[in-house]
Amino acid sequence: MQKPASSIIVIFGASGDLTRRKLIPALFDLYRQNFLPENCAVLGVSRSTISDEQFRKRMRDELEKDSGAERKNITVFLKNLFYQSIDTAVVAEYAKLKKRLLEIDRSCHCGGNMLFYLSTPPNLYPVIPAMLEAHGLNRSAENGGWRRLIVEKPFGYDLASAMELNKTLLKYFSEEQIYRIDHYLGKETVQNILALRFSNGIFEPLWNRNYIHHVEITGAEALGVEQRGGYYNRSGAVRDMVQNHLLQIAATIAMEPPAVFGADAVRNEKVKVFQALRSIRTEDVSKQVVRGQYTASTIRGEKVAAYREEKDVPPDSRTETFVALRFYIDNWRWGGVPFFIRSGKRLPTRVTEAVIHFNRTPHSLFADTHSVNEGDNQLIIRIQPDEGILLKFGMKRPGAGFNIEQVGMDFHYSDLGPIDIPEAYERLLLDCLNGDGTLYARADGVEACWKFIDPILNAWRENPDIPLYGYPAGTWGPQEANRLFDNPGEDWRYPCKNLTGDGEYCEL
Ligand code: BG6
Repeated sequence: MQKPASSIIVIFGASGDLTRRKLIPALFDLYRQNFLPENCAVLGVSRSTISDEQFRKRMRDELEKDSGAERKNITVFLKNLFYQSIDTAVVAEYAKLKKRLLEIDRSCHCGGNMLFYLSTPPNLYPVIPAMLEAHGLNRSAENGGWRRLIVEKPFGYDLASAMELNKTLLKYFSEEQIYRIDHYLGKETVQNILALRFSNGIFEPLWNRNYIHHVEITGAEALGVEQRGGYYNRSGAVRDMVQNHLLQIAATIAMEPPAVFGADAVRNEKVKVFQALRSIRTEDVSKQVVRGQYTASTIRGEKVAAYREEKDVPPDSRTETFVALRFYIDNWRWGGVPFFIRSGKRLPTRVTEAVIHFNRTPHSLFADTHSVNEGDNQLIIRIQPDEGILLKFGMKRPGAGFNIEQVGMDFHYSDLGPIDIPEAYERLLLDCLNGDGTLYARADGVEACWKFIDPILNAWRENPDIPLYGYPAGTWGPQEANRLFDNPGEDWRYPCKNLTGDGEYCEL
């Protein structure tokens, strides 16, 4: 892995949760593995007036939670961590920031390279880049140092706001400087979909409408909205998970092989998929999309509140905490193949997986006279947890007759031995430091996804009669999600095993 050029990483929103829980631990892990630049400083920026030392102490407390982290390493890492308090909405305040950056750049020999990470509330996404420009911080330094901007999700609230945000950002930074993060793209197992498809000869010939019956993608979470009720209630499952993470997985499964493995080539192919998403007509929304909201329940003996009783959620909220949809990709490879996505909070377990369902045999040879449990061949790509890949097929049960049973051929990442699967943020931060945008979303891709999502959200807003089904917390969402399948007997894959008394657990 290439070591990036010396640089300063500036995190706006440094007092937020993401900085503490994800960004600093990811940077520390990169440091531990010797992947950070030779000279590297991190500057946290936020409104609260705390000192460098206080900031370091907060981050130390977080890093020490990881029992594997050696204190000595933490101390060395924290030496290059700094803090600057400014009101990010006030242009004059950026003079302080600039002065501080120049000092740090000089003392750490960071070569004028600066990565600005926007981890603030989204209303500041258009503001901060404008302020950086006002102080000339968006442009390369005279010594040729680069400037890059990472923008956290949510990237827009709908198509219009995403386009507006792109337009604003592009006034101050060029597309090559902008990195729109989708942390799912940094997940090792999502990247592995590319390796599975494009480094093996056996799957690609089957990877099309002639052999694939349908594709199913699940992003299930056991937790509720926790402390994020305010954010979530404005967002809902479609904006929070489908518009970005799960459509990115769908595109990784559906894209054509790029000619080369590079940021433009890979993203061009993905954008073609997004642009081929068949828009769901208003009158079809209730047929193709099912929304739900969790109601109070008891999970493993514990009472669980309804979504409407969660902190910062209005008691009459109509926000969906579950969504399931059927959609099509109108191109030569996928014409007529239904794709299904399902995602929700307070489902029985946390699991993300994609299932490729292959066509059944044209004739069931053994069905008449023998016991047959043929099912369809499935390739299950488990993104988390118990990361791995499982291929299911029918096999003759040893003994008399031809009794067919479903068996599995599987690979678990854990079989590779004690290999740490890196956190998504590690990979993405490192790529950005190296100037590689392959695993970041591009403006046209984000807009194409919103273009597909907007009609669903509009239909819900304009037609309150479209039902919002309740589902008891801890179940797999409303029963109505099953009617998205065309054929009797087809259903979602239920990936977990039931353990009496111990709830569900999720092995591949
Ligand atoms: C975030 C969503 O983008 O992804 C959260 O805002 C969700 O609501 C999270 O819980 C899921 O990410 P992961 O990596 O835990 O699957």
